[in-house]
Amino acid sequence: MSGPAPASAAARRALQRCAALAAISSMPGGVERVHLSPEHARANALAAGWMAQAGLATWRDQAGNQWGRLEGREPGLPALVLGSHLDTVSDAGRYDGVLGVVSAIEVAHRLRERADELPFALEVVAFSDEEGTRFATALMGSKAVAGQWDQDWWERADADGVTVREAALAFGLDPARVGEAARRPADLVGYLELHIEQGPQLESAGRALGVVTSIAGARRFTGHVAGQARHAGGTPYPRRRDALVAAADVVLAVERLAVELDGIATVGRLQAFPGGVNVVPGLVEFSLDVRAERDADRDDLVERIRAHGEAVSRARGTTFELVETHSAPGVVCDGALSASIAEGIAATGDADPVRLWSRAGHDAMAVAAITPVAMLFVRCEDGISHAPGENVTVEDVAHGIDAFEAAVHDVARRRR
Ligand code: GLV
Ligand code: MN
Ligand code: MN
Repeated sequence: MSGPAPASAAARRALQRCAALAAISSMPGGVERVHLSPEHARANALAAGWMAQAGLATWRDQAGNQWGRLEGREPGLPALVLGSHLDTVSDAGRYDGVLGVVSAIEVAHRLRERADELPFALEVVAFSDEEGTRFATALMGSKAVAGQWDQDWWERADADGVTVREAALAFGLDPARVGEAARRPADLVGYLELHIEQGPQLESAGRALGVVTSIAGARRFTGHVAGQARHAGGTPYPRRRDALVAAADVVLAVERLAVELDGIATVGRLQAFPGGVNVVPGLVEFSLDVRAERDADRDDLVERIRAHGEAVSRARGTTFELVETHSAPGVVCDGALSASIAEGIAATGDADPVRLWSRAGHDAMAVAAITPVAMLFVRCEDGISHAPGENVTVEDVAHGIDAFEAAVHDVARRRR
């Protein structure tokens, strides 16, 4: 169990900074900050200012990620990178991603006086797109850093028809130079990410912090059920090919199959067309997000959902299709870096921390392609995330920053 910690000044400042970032929003009365938006630019500027105050040299890369760097015992050493993301879902909470960025800045601030003892440089990164809210893909910022930018992304459009290329140009980026955002494995020691848990396990266990063992890779789809739009009054049931009734059957099966197969599958958005009160729906478009601890189980769940959708459509005279919009392989966290995270938590008084796999996706998944990664979870109230009710306590954040700093010291000790 983590003992009581004094609510440190660093934790209070971190929470004030989360509030300052939450105020940068495109949604009146709520939080929404999406990739390559004016709000993204303002959030980056705020984070860059805090990084500079902490003594870091700052730059923005060609994928819109904001970086800061503190040299170690000699200039030019490979870097241990701490970070998370500044973009949000729509009507978000104020801590998802953001807490990891501001905590990383606090750790760098604390280490600044002793940086000349570090056997690596310390970098902080605020990734630009983890959620995929604007362009219906995810991890664009961290994938660019991992050298996995997909050229097809340039022509993806947001809901207003603005493409990634157009948004990047408006943001002041040069699409031809996106490759420069990629980091070489030889220049990196590893990547550590602090993040709120986004689920209730730590709270149930009565622990402030946990060590992440692996990160589930999500697959996401846009689905279509197509039938025939016809008069709601005049069309007898045997002649109906109601796309919404078929889609409703699929939505129920998504939940049932996920529970049966011990996976997680969610329809988060669904729209019926033409959407008339007196018209049998002819088309339904919906989103599907599928996850599991192991990728093979997740893929099995996808195929079971697809088979069910096709069977329902055969029975109802509709058609069913799933088009994949995002796929990330699950990632196992690095053993040595995770041991350092556990040491960091032990330094806060919890000698045998909870270990849990992450059901949520994180930038660490993309970064794992180029360097070892590990993650530290901070308890969040009622496990609520991706919603305005997201909450953490200042005491837990104080424990989190202390553990994060101690983990960096442990990585340094192991490399000396
Ligand atoms: C990211 O927050 C995700 O897991 O969807
Ligand atoms: Mn999120
Ligand atoms: Mn996140």
